Amino acid sequence: MKLALVGATGLVGKTALTILSRLPVTELIPVASERSYGKSISFNDKDIRIQSIERALEMKPDIAIFSAGSELSKEYAPLFSSKGCYVIDNSSAWRMDKDVPLVVPEINGDQLTRDHYLIANPNCSTIQMVMVLFPIARIYGLKKVIVSTYQSVTGSGYQGLAQLISEREERKVDKPAYPYPIDLNCIPHCDRFLENDYTREEMKLVYESRKIMDMPHLPVHATAVRVPVIGGHSESVYIELEKPFEIQEIRTLLARSPGIKVLDDPATGQYPMPAIAHKKDEVFVGRIRKDIDNEKALGLWIVADNLRKGAAGNAIQIAGIIHQRFISDAPA
Ligand SMILES: NC(=O)c1ccc[n+]([C@@H]2O[C@H](COP(=O)([O-])OP(=O)(O)OC[C@H]3O[C@@H](n4cnc5c(N)ncnc54)[C@H](OP(=O)(O)O)[C@@H]3O)[C@@H](O)[C@H]2O)c1
Repeated sequence: MKLALVGATGLVGKTALTILSRLPVTELIPVASERSYGKSISFNDKDIRIQSIERALEMKPDIAIFSAGSELSKEYAPLFSSKGCYVIDNSSAWRMDKDVPLVVPEINGDQLTRDHYLIANPNCSTIQMVMVLFPIARIYGLKKVIVSTYQSVTGSGYQGLAQLISEREERKVDKPAYPYPIDLNCIPHCDRFLENDYTREEMKLVYESRKIMDMPHLPVHATAVRVPVIGGHSESVYIELEKPFEIQEIRTLLARSPGIKVLDDPATGQYPMPAIAHKKDEVFVGRIRKDIDNEKALGLWIVADNLRKGAAGNAIQIAGIIHQRFISDAPA
């Protein structure tokens, strides 16, 4: 399979390279901006030159994973898909388009069809939250969600990571990703503010969760916060359910759900943290506890590596399904 990795030099692209051996890639086409032309990346013990996006289009890949921002995806994803290339887009450009499936394989992998050549990968904070909420919702019904996020600087790409490290080492920050220092601080917004006083990241949590779980009217209240952390995003999530439950039933249900790891024994120090989730595929959940005033409500603490399940991992999972279902049996 010929695969184009658009944004191969970014944090998502580099993470994808570390797990690309999960796919039967016979030819890799790494793509980056002009800044990186002339450079190479190493894959399968070979140095492969970075290509321009135009050249990658001419090379007719079977699958293209786009992780290079919305503007590039808006312009080029349709050009690739119109040539019969399956595009998996990590940006927000196509997520809310009604004709584009927004896919977390464990939840709605059935929306991947032979004819959908453009597939959107959801926002990182949304993926980890719906991974945990969906199994609960299927059995107990979901009435309301209140979420506060504690998001890693790696969610802002290499500039976010560079800002944190430069500040920590007391070096000048070249192109700050944030309007304030991030080290020894937390900033109560991710992405820009909207007219409704929420931020774009918060509204992604609302709209994308509704679309992925097919719950168009689900009330979701989100507060997204950037914290001086690498390794993953954490989320404090409060949910109200339609039906009452025993807390042990929820733990058992989540422990049996694919892609989820329950770490929930504070007595032995078992709870999810970014330091545990870093470079792992699973979504970790703990601090599972019933509301003391509402027998149909509970609190959860959800942590995942935003670059793995939140971005590259989910995209490669989708690519694997597409390869298995729609490419490997195609005539040569
Ligand atoms: N970081 C996350 O946790 C996360 C999670 C989910 C989704 N995403 C999305 O994934 C995308 C990439 O995020 P990231 O964190 O990897 O960002 P990043 O570290 O800033 O990397 C951006 C990548 O895009 C490339 N690029 C920029 N402009 C380009 C152009 N005109 N043509 C070709 N390549 C271009 C860059 O190449 P150069 O190195 O040459 O500049 C680099 O490889 C974004 O759309 C982001 O919203 C990120």
